[in-house]
Amino acid sequence: MQQINASIGFDQRLWRQDIQGSLAHAAMLARVGIISAADETAIRKGLEAIAAEIESGKFVFDPALEDIHTNLEAQLIARIGEPGRRLHTARSRNDQVATDLRLWLREAIDGLDGQVAALMQALADRAGEYAHLAMPGFTHLQAAQPVTFGHHLMAYVEMFARDRGRLADCRRRLNECPLGAAALAGTAFPIDRQMTAEALGFARPCANSLDAVSDRDFALEFLAAAALAASHLSRLAEEIVLWASPGFRFIRLSDAYTSGSSIMPQKRNPDAAELVRAKSGRIDGALVALLTVLKGLPLAYGKDLQEDKEPVFDAADALSLSLAAMVGMVRDLVADAARMSGMAAEGFSTATDLADWLVRTLGMPFRTAHHVTGRLVAKAEGRGVSLAELPLAEMQAEEPGITQAVYGVLSIAASIASRNSLGGTAPARVAAAAEEWRRRLAG
Ligand code: ARG
Repeated sequence: MQQINASIGFDQRLWRQDIQGSLAHAAMLARVGIISAADETAIRKGLEAIAAEIESGKFVFDPALEDIHTNLEAQLIARIGEPGRRLHTARSRNDQVATDLRLWLREAIDGLDGQVAALMQALADRAGEYAHLAMPGFTHLQAAQPVTFGHHLMAYVEMFARDRGRLADCRRRLNECPLGAAALAGTAFPIDRQMTAEALGFARPCANSLDAVSDRDFALEFLAAAALAASHLSRLAEEIVLWASPGFRFIRLSDAYTSGSSIMPQKRNPDAAELVRAKSGRIDGALVALLTVLKGLPLAYGKDLQEDKEPVFDAADALSLSLAAMVGMVRDLVADAARMSGMAAEGFSTATDLADWLVRTLGMPFRTAHHVTGRLVAKAEGRGVSLAELPLAEMQAEEPGITQAVYGVLSIAASIASRNSLGGTAPARVAAAAEEWRRRLAG
């Protein structure tokens, strides 16, 4: 029973929040006259001494005492006696644990938000640096149209900005205080829930006592936001793995984020990126685990709810570690400019520019231009040359209206510079977007 029942092995991580909650609760009990000022002072001093002991690493948690709440209360009573026995008036572990977890998660979200911002900063810095560097843009992982490396990095800045928005939403909704809901029905004591909510930095007390002790939406919302952020990290990690592979050779990662093989001396394996890619699996698992725990759980508290903490801790840890590793890799990577821009020119990547030129200059319907371009690509392919290298006479044999001016749109530089529409890949647009984000993130 002790093995299945005890949560102290993992919920000791909530000790600060548990003490914080108890201090606020005791102060409120004294203010409304449920306990004496002297009792409150004894409780406060006792809890502060316990906090110092836990901090020093000397505190011994007892699995026979089930969880962090009972461990701390038992220790308090052992130290200060009678006043310690009054602390649990007008509360229950049910409202206590819900309060602790909200406090913990609020802090975790703030830390993660700062880490996501740091990642965006790193991406925007590198995007500014690479605003002009051409790379192949892919659809279906087939070279489609040239883009800039900076533009590609800025796409992730937008994704991570949405992740911050989701974390902020979650934080705002979780910021209500369950304390005072007691076991499930509220309490007959004249407590002041406004006071404890305020003392703990919550916007307001939870409105319904049953909901207050049984709700874990805040944990699920966090896990959903974390899973999505982890998906973004995983996509970026996958691209880093591809870019660093010998087939692509777009970037190089230093030894700091790669490892050698124990038997193949030529290898530089992108381990950190691979692990970031894999961590998203754990975080998705945490979300599904908690969704499954909560589905079908009758109101109000059930011990099932004790299973909320490990997925939340594990996901928060995995996300934090992934973010730290990703910031490191983004700052570390070095683009192979010659290789990347060289590849951007391959695969007839300016075919769309040619078709657009036929539409713009000759007034050709786009479908016809698409067809003509297809034939010109086939010609170039047959001769083993790029579109820019295809002689004018060859082009005119296919479409007499084509003039020398067409070569102005067939270079990579011309292609990317021309995509100057809002949100497009033109270097000027990319540089401006990177600058704008760097300014916003700094401010
Ligand atoms: N260890 C429990 C948890 O984490 C604390 C609440 C226990 N409440 C109860 N009625 N047994 O959920």
